[in-house]
Amino acid sequence: MRRFGKRQPWRRRNEGEEARASAGGRGAGAGSGRPRHELARVLSKLGVASRTDAEALIRAGRVAVAGAVCREPGRWTEPEAEELSVDGRPVRSAAKVYLALYKPSGLLTTYYDPQGRPTVYGCLPDLGTWVFPVGRLDAPTSGLLLFTNDTRFGDCLAGDRYGVEKVYEAKVKGVVTAEELERLRTGVTLEDGYRTLPAGAEPIKSNDGSTWLRLTLREGKNRQVRRMCLAVGHEVVKLRRVRIGPIELGGLPYGQARALTEAEVARAFAACAQSEKKKEQDRSAVRGRGAGAGAGAGAGAGGATRRAGNGASRRVGSGYASTDSNKTNRNNKTKKHSS
Ligand code: URA
Repeated sequence: MRRFGKRQPWRRRNEGEEARASAGGRGAGAGSGRPRHELARVLSKLGVASRTDAEALIRAGRVAVAGAVCREPGRWTEPEAEELSVDGRPVRSAAKVYLALYKPSGLLTTYYDPQGRPTVYGCLPDLGTWVFPVGRLDAPTSGLLLFTNDTRFGDCLAGDRYGVEKVYEAKVKGVVTAEELERLRTGVTLEDGYRTLPAGAEPIKSNDGSTWLRLTLREGKNRQVRRMCLAVGHEVVKLRRVRIGPIELGGLPYGQARALTEAEVARAFAACAQSEKKKEQDRSAVRGRGAGAGAGAGAGAGGATRRAGNGASRRVGSGYASTDSNKTNRNNKTKKHSS
């Protein structure tokens, strides 16, 4: 049984919870000794939705605990012992599932949007197990988005910790100069003071007053590509992710999903180990630059670091378990979107 809170510890209890715990209340986890957490938090940790959206999902009566609908976001839950389901589908299943989606632009990377806007889950068939997106793409961004029910896989590829490469193709306004490309490569200071790590930045083509760039990042701050391009004076007008570690968007049709092969999954895990090393070297380089930059214009090393969170989840099913023989779409219930 998967344990919670090992690599991503649950938040500290607030004062009220501490009081309940010390009084032997529901939050104490007394009795079974198994960890207990608030339902909304459990769902958010499982990648079902953000904490706020999970609360809305629960209040809407779409979540059941041990078979009974629960409308209380703060209900204490033993995630290791109690079966959770959303919209009648169990949140966890034994078989590991890994899939790649060509996310169309215009869709939110979340399972539940209280405003009812279309989400990436509209592109996924119902395959019988819960999956969450590995990182996020902004609504206007298209391209490769991975889904899984394997939290180890998700942690490995999504967070900044391992620094797995993510490759984007960005169409920006204007002509990008060699000097601007170099700034993107060495690191730019974003509007909130965050200094980006070294990145790959190559021009693909330039015409009609715009330039297509290929950018390779080892980190994923919120809207990072758009903000990096703006930092060197160019607004992004189109953005597509084409690779995550060893996994390529390739010829996957727009709006469609496919299972990852076993080889892709294995290569992704291997890439995490390698990337962690490279990331540490990059960090050292940035620290070195920061120390030596003195009063140099635009040096600005350091700054705020914020972790991009994971998003939402949903069941998909057996046809999307990883398989070496399946490189094409198994299920074409996906919608076609225009670009
Ligand atoms: N960078 C962005 O600006 N947006 C994305 O969706 C991903 C990376």
